[in-house]
Amino acid sequence: MKYTINRTNHNDFDFYEINKRAGRAYFIPYSSKDILEKTPIASERFSSDIVKVLSGEWDFKYYSKKSALPEILDTEAEIFDKINVPSTWQRTGYEPPVYLNCPYEFETRPPKLPKEFSAGVYRKIFSIKSLDSKYILSFLGVIPCIDLYINGDFVGYSEGAHNTAEFDISDYIFAGDNELLAVVHKWSTGTFLECQDMFRENGIFRDVLLYQMPKTFINDYFLETEKKDSGWSMNAQISLSGNFDGYDITVEIKDKGTIIASNCAPAEEKVTIPFMNLPVEEWNAEIPKIYETYIVLKKGDSEIEAVRNLTGFKQIKIIKNVFTFNDAKIKIKGVNHHDTHYKNGYVMSFADLEKDIKLMKSLNVNGVRTSHYPPDANLLTLCDLNGLYVIDEADIETHGCGGYPYFKMNLISNNPKWIPRYLDRVSRMYYRDRNHACVTMWSLGNEAGGYKCQDACYKFLSEKCPEIPVHYEGVIHTPRHSYDVVSEMYTSTGNLIEVRDGSRGKKYKNKPFYLCEYCHAMGVGPGCLEEYWEILYSADIFMGGCIWEWADHAVYHEDGKLKYTYGGDHGEIKHDGNFCVDGLMYPDRTPHTGALEMKAVYRPVRAMLTEQGSFIFKNTNRFRNADYITVKWVLLQNGVKTDTGSFGLNIKPCGEQVIKLNLNISEKCDFHINFSYLNEFEQELATEQVTLQEATSNETVIEGVNNLICKTDGDILKISFDNGFAVFNKTTGNLEHYNINGKEMLNQEPVASKGFLPNIFRALLDNDNKRKSNWLKLSYNNFNIRIEDFEFEEHDSFVKVKSKFILYNSKTDLFSVDLVYLIKANGSIKVIAKLEPQKTIFLETDLPRFGLMLEMPRNFDHIEYYGLGERENLCDFKAQATIGIYKNTVDRMHEPYIKPQDNGNHTEVRWLKITDTDGAGIMFCFSKNKFSFSVHNYTQKLLQEAKHQEDLCDQNTTVLSIDGFMRGAGTASCGPDTLPKYTFDAKDGLEFEFIMKPVI
Ligand code: GAL
Ligand code: MG
Repeated sequence: MKYTINRTNHNDFDFYEINKRAGRAYFIPYSSKDILEKTPIASERFSSDIVKVLSGEWDFKYYSKKSALPEILDTEAEIFDKINVPSTWQRTGYEPPVYLNCPYEFETRPPKLPKEFSAGVYRKIFSIKSLDSKYILSFLGVIPCIDLYINGDFVGYSEGAHNTAEFDISDYIFAGDNELLAVVHKWSTGTFLECQDMFRENGIFRDVLLYQMPKTFINDYFLETEKKDSGWSMNAQISLSGNFDGYDITVEIKDKGTIIASNCAPAEEKVTIPFMNLPVEEWNAEIPKIYETYIVLKKGDSEIEAVRNLTGFKQIKIIKNVFTFNDAKIKIKGVNHHDTHYKNGYVMSFADLEKDIKLMKSLNVNGVRTSHYPPDANLLTLCDLNGLYVIDEADIETHGCGGYPYFKMNLISNNPKWIPRYLDRVSRMYYRDRNHACVTMWSLGNEAGGYKCQDACYKFLSEKCPEIPVHYEGVIHTPRHSYDVVSEMYTSTGNLIEVRDGSRGKKYKNKPFYLCEYCHAMGVGPGCLEEYWEILYSADIFMGGCIWEWADHAVYHEDGKLKYTYGGDHGEIKHDGNFCVDGLMYPDRTPHTGALEMKAVYRPVRAMLTEQGSFIFKNTNRFRNADYITVKWVLLQNGVKTDTGSFGLNIKPCGEQVIKLNLNISEKCDFHINFSYLNEFEQELATEQVTLQEATSNETVIEGVNNLICKTDGDILKISFDNGFAVFNKTTGNLEHYNINGKEMLNQEPVASKGFLPNIFRALLDNDNKRKSNWLKLSYNNFNIRIEDFEFEEHDSFVKVKSKFILYNSKTDLFSVDLVYLIKANGSIKVIAKLEPQKTIFLETDLPRFGLMLEMPRNFDHIEYYGLGERENLCDFKAQATIGIYKNTVDRMHEPYIKPQDNGNHTEVRWLKITDTDGAGIMFCFSKNKFSFSVHNYTQKLLQEAKHQEDLCDQNTTVLSIDGFMRGAGTASCGPDTLPKYTFDAKDGLEFEFIMKPVI
């Protein structure tokens, strides 16, 4: 068949749609209510006899230049590839992936597009049995635009990637086989509104549906619910199409199969069926009570069409500056969710979405912002069913306007010529999603400045839908400041405190405060999440917030050299590197430690010790009594279980309960209690540890007296003790041998250096942004070491060895480090490390760490420690970690961040053993203060240089980092730095010590 290809729709500012149907609810009609009722939600889209899903194998032809598109395209003459729909060009090999955060891919002035770019032609043959129907073709997502043709004729055009585009094709089809042709240009004028921080992909990325509607059919519906003094009412407003003679409409509300209300009316173009005083329970994220409403179109006794809606009852009110949901002051424990799949990019199946939603629920998340566009409608259905408050966001972001070459964030949003396009996107979101119980706020988009176009959208929504508040963060930078709630991103805890205390200005006083993004979860972290929640819980003005973001975006390669690639790995000239790898989940949804941190901080119950053995438990739920939670507790004495028990809770929402336990904690050692909160299915909701008592010093070291012999020979100082000897090199100042019973504990073929090496750096965390330039400027990442002094003294019961080192860069001395070793006859060595800044220049004394590195032979790879956490942790990143005794192996202590960085740290460590398979090795014990450690089979240098996991390798060594000081993570990859209390300052010097001793 021959097609005259339109060459201008995609870049003609006069159109953003041609012949597109009006926005309406997403639903999948069936011809039998009975079958629909029996159809699981997961397969609803795919099992209807009215709706045919056209997704699957299509023909596809890629044109790297749109100018190469033929004037007349003859499908008989073309040679097509096969492609799977839905998919994107970048994930099927047609174009390399491009990751950009803020900018557009081009630099033309809106609405002008570059002259040349690519295009793709999709073809699908579909068959039609009878012409006695209305045929609607529904594209659930095409980025960025589509010209649709059927059987040689142009049908219509659409923009708005994440809005549904529907076309009535009844007049274009024949009985039998029909040909659909869809031309997708890489960019359209709509692209100016789709400048989101993500891989920029193209194509038909969501399902394509063919509705074969009966001549008379349900076109749309709105189930308007309202809470009245007398109870809940529902106005079922149904729009019908066709000829209504002899037809009627029944609406039936069911609760788990039982009809609770039913009503009927003759069919008309618009039918309203009212229900009063419904005996229903309300919906909320904790108890997502869902009813099924069936709308059935009948002719006489025969069913023509049946539609199912999952119905929930909610009422949102903003009372002064407090956001209430069904009369409760809710807090959104949220995340930002992009549609991103490690293999398929923008394409997410029902199962993929369901996996995300279930994972969120299992991590105590109760809210999701659909950043930065409306999701597949199935995601909302899943939120209705599983219980998540949704901030449904319009597909509008013009971030590129803020940078080169425009430098004017408002460029588009304050230009009224764009209003129709904004309204189109917002109103289509509204009409599609208004029937979902989970929709808690509408969002006008993201990072688009403003506010003239947004004002028009706000007006539309507040008139059409006064019952659901509107959020838009971008407006905060304009005189408008806010719509229904004050929204910000990455606000510091300090500024939140000012909001709470009323000292941040009038504009922050009168509306609820919502953090649409906070705690940027890139790399190790987020740090300080717990501190956010201490503040968010402290005042009703706060409605919570959504962590940025749910999952890493990266491209997965099945057999590639690299498993995951990010910006710049695909030959892109313009890209934003690994800034897309910033999620709580790895791309394949393996949780990062950050996800566990969130799970802990978002926990439904919080415990507090009041007096010994007495705890207050607080229920952070707003609707649900905590009586579904069983608390299992374990008492730990020096990390060892000494007692256990369990009890149930019974706490009203937001209430407290005092629980007294009879705990035996007489001796002077560590006592901790671990609470594990289990739900009615015995699933662990969270764990929490309360410290009952802490030993202040370590008394486990026994002094030796015999056999301490000191010998020097040239460069060598050898100190022999009970079962072995230590050797220092007087020229280098290093401890070169630690030999116990003939076994050498120090790597004699180290990658970096023999013995302890002072360290003030860490392979940069993404979140180290605030100080990193200072550190790098002074070469903290690459300092040199020279020995300044070496001395030793023999005492009665110990030998003291002292090495003084200077850390310096190419220009100047930075710090001195004194290492003092006190060696006893039992072979134990107390190591005291002291850092002093060299006063000669201005130094950055806010350091990432101060510690020592030591290489042991590779076969010492069994780790046991008494300290914080099975998983990595830092001082501001430890809600997920409990003090205990843990065993592991070195290789398993590595966290495979896609962009490698310092990882696998454990803080608050009392002791650590590193042993070989015979159980021989070294034990490191805290002396004055607890220490941090990490162990890896690679050096810090390699980690620092690594851009991908694959750059790391096992270097045949066991590298221990033992640190007296370790900075917190914070979230400065995009948000605020860690709090001052989680940093340390070396300006007046730093000192720490530990004791190492043989393990035999
Ligand atoms: C926000 C933006 C997000 C994302 C994030 C950084 O400013 O809204 O889309 O770019 O920063 O990861
Ligand atoms: Mg952006």
